Amino acid sequence: MIVTDPQLAIDALARGALCAIPTETVYGLAADATNPTAVDQVFAAKGRPADHPLIVHVASLKESELWVVDLPSWAWTLAQACWPGPLTLVGNRTSLASDKITGGQDTVAVRVPDHSLTLQVLQGLADRGIHGVVAPSANLFGHVSPTSAQHVAADLGDYLKKHDGLILDGGACRVGVESTIVLATGDFPVILRPGGITRKMITEITGLPTSESGDNQPRVSGSLDSHYAPDAQVSLVRSDVVQSLDHGGLIAFAEIATPSGVTRLSSPTTIDEFANSLYSALRAADEQGITNVFVVPPQDEGLAEAVLDRLRRAAF
Ligand code: TXA
Ligand code: MG
Repeated sequence: MIVTDPQLAIDALARGALCAIPTETVYGLAADATNPTAVDQVFAAKGRPADHPLIVHVASLKESELWVVDLPSWAWTLAQACWPGPLTLVGNRTSLASDKITGGQDTVAVRVPDHSLTLQVLQGLADRGIHGVVAPSANLFGHVSPTSAQHVAADLGDYLKKHDGLILDGGACRVGVESTIVLATGDFPVILRPGGITRKMITEITGLPTSESGDNQPRVSGSLDSHYAPDAQVSLVRSDVVQSLDHGGLIAFAEIATPSGVTRLSSPTTIDEFANSLYSALRAADEQGITNVFVVPPQDEGLAEAVLDRLRRAAF
């Protein structure tokens, strides 16, 4: 069920089966975006509520034009600078983007992922007239996102086996947290979910200030208060209390020592490492039966904003 040949993924997706695909952020559970039965299976496999919209993954900026229209010029500039990469644009939809994908909204989310195997898959599908796949993170709804093929198998292996699906193994994900979602329907970029493309990068590229989403509708399922959560209870702690801990698991920068009785789950030395080891550390806690995970969160801006966002929801 775990394969490395992109041609097998192309064949599976073209016949309407599901295939988990590697991206630079996290693994996605892909289905032909123009096949309603295949899209239904994505919701069924994840246990995801039907009104939570999906991201359409395409091979290129050019292909994205089949899905979104009327992008403001700043959004074009951003897409040109960041794709392939960890940016998702939410723009006005074309008729190709069905209600099933958008949750009945007039907007659709689209991105070009940066992973060579998956770009081959998307191009191969485009050559066969399939111009995009939906791909939510390949985890059970509400659970920690997968950053390896093994993580996907742990959550969705049984479903995929039973339904003739595949997992395309492209190794560990480089970024490790989900893409930045930017609403691109107005004069300014609105960040719906922080991610690998930072606020500062968006302002530098577009020359515009960014804002947060004002409405609190759960249009972004990742914006639910509790999400990205392991079974273990996650607590955010300050570095000065770490030495008084005597049980549980610890995720913190390497400079913070592990007190006795505590299991070290991750010791990143950079914010990039913090991000790309976070989800595997949370999953490792559950595998080892650790019921309390303590995290000293990163403090800076940049990628730390995305990491903090995920940690707060994991801890809720
Ligand atoms: O990095 C990523 O974005 C990963 C990889 C696999 O590409 N995908 C991912 O998908 O995180 P998912 O489904 O777990 O999260 C997609 C988010 C959801 O929170 C969804 O609500 C939001 O995108 N979204 C999709 N369409 C939207 C729309 N039209 N308006 C607002 N939010 C939208
Ligand atoms: Mg998700």
